Amino acid sequence: MHRRDFLAMLGLLGLGTALPLDPRQAFAASASPAPLPIPGLLRPDESGRIALTVTAGQSMWKQAPTPTWGYNGPLLGPALSLKRGRTASLEVRNTLPEATTVHWHGLEIPGISDGGPQAVIASGTVWQAELAIKQRAATCWYHPHLHARTGRQVAMGLAGLLLIEDEESGRLPLPRAWGVDDIPLVLQDKRLDAQGRIAYEMDVVSAAVGWFGDFPLANGALYPQHAPPRGWLRLRLLNGCNARSLRLACSDNRPLYVIAGDGGFLPEPVRMRELTLYMGERFEVMLDVSDGKPFDLISLPVKQMGMALPPFDKALPVLRIAPGSGKSPKTRLPDRLAELPALPALDKLPVRRFQLSMDPRLDMRGMMELRKRYGDKAMSGMDMMGMGHSGGGMGGGMMHGSGGGMMHGSGGGMGGMGGGSQQPFDLWHSNFINNKAFVMNEAAFDVTLGRYERWVISGKGDMMLHPFHIHGTQFRILKENDAPPLPHRQGPKDIVLVEGKESEVLVRFDHPASAERMYMAHCHLLEHEDTGMMLAFTVTP
Ligand code: C2O
Ligand code: CU
Ligand code: CU
Repeated sequence: MHRRDFLAMLGLLGLGTALPLDPRQAFAASASPAPLPIPGLLRPDESGRIALTVTAGQSMWKQAPTPTWGYNGPLLGPALSLKRGRTASLEVRNTLPEATTVHWHGLEIPGISDGGPQAVIASGTVWQAELAIKQRAATCWYHPHLHARTGRQVAMGLAGLLLIEDEESGRLPLPRAWGVDDIPLVLQDKRLDAQGRIAYEMDVVSAAVGWFGDFPLANGALYPQHAPPRGWLRLRLLNGCNARSLRLACSDNRPLYVIAGDGGFLPEPVRMRELTLYMGERFEVMLDVSDGKPFDLISLPVKQMGMALPPFDKALPVLRIAPGSGKSPKTRLPDRLAELPALPALDKLPVRRFQLSMDPRLDMRGMMELRKRYGDKAMSGMDMMGMGHSGGGMGGGMMHGSGGGMMHGSGGGMGGMGGGSQQPFDLWHSNFINNKAFVMNEAAFDVTLGRYERWVISGKGDMMLHPFHIHGTQFRILKENDAPPLPHRQGPKDIVLVEGKESEVLVRFDHPASAERMYMAHCHLLEHEDTGMMLAFTVTP
């Protein structure tokens, strides 16, 4: 059954000769799928308090237990459920042997509560944050943001969802039975070493292209199964990977109806056959499972920065959906979801520019190490790079477009050359915004509270994937990688794609951020962020 519909999908993709891949096989795990773990819903108590404890624990994926980290448990965290118009008081206790921070990704709250790199929670201490929710219903998330450690701490398991509900979301006839027909899905990839520990490393390769896992997880489980009632199924999807973008589809090619993006509902559902999620992005989708037929949610082959690394080079099942015999209550897919505020006149607004680039020495070293590790064959996707894999010499950098080799494409200009070339090469300062790696406690600029601005973010000059994220705001995408945003990316967003081209967003900050607790703007490829592709800014009246 399962094999058959999966093969049908492969046929559709023109990958007919490939065998279906069960990611559990690599682990010699039991043949029967585990039920999908559902993170608990955590609401504030009568006095508005929520307690989170950051803990070390263990998870079982292979025969040996893997040390992992989580919030209120060994892996990931509960889904925090907050209401618009209320204030929740978060109390975060750090019991890890090292410092961390907790950032509420997607929330429009003052810098003092934002949980960025300055809001360090030392080992053994408690941090208090007031989350006064003024924004619309959305599926957001929380994760560590300790500078230069974010990638590692997320890979260790620290991430959770944060749901905002409001009157509008309450009125819509959408599925809302948590863990039954309203399903949170934190999608990640992980890689273990021979001892079963999480094999996280920061080196020239991960700094250049990111850290990738070699098996997929849905809520921390390997290809689990969920049995929803027949009817409409709502999935709240989060790409919680460090560096991997995901292309999701159903194995039997049934449509996904996208109803919400990062910051809330779209005006109307957008029907799609496949949905790409960049790192840090959320989408809510509706699936019609009233036919009762089982199928898989699959990850389609992803070629990212020219690399297709197994097993994600093939269609890979991430979740088995096998509807039960029960029927969902009266839920449906509404024609209209929400009104979006009209855009202001754009022509007189202040414009800020952000040029993303990397130290050319990282480019060169990363490329040489990749060749050493995977050989020329694994790099056969490199044709999208300027130099390609066949004609280029060893010395060429992989990440750059037209120029090839050490030359930067037009947009990069002096980009990569200026930042660090005079200094000795430093991995931790090898990714730049406007020629500069992140400097702690330094404001790159100040934004006026409550004023619209246009932010232009350019990745011209390299071919790297940069999902660019801004704290403290839900923006609107005006242009994404030189093109108008796709319909399902036109709602409130906090991440915009930048990949070798230029993107533009309309931002406004309605809360202050002081020099002591600044907002961040950064690439959400966590290894780019950790090695410098981030800046801090203040917001003042
Ligand atoms: Cu999700 Cu500044 O991060
Ligand atoms: Cu954020
Ligand atoms: Cu990036």
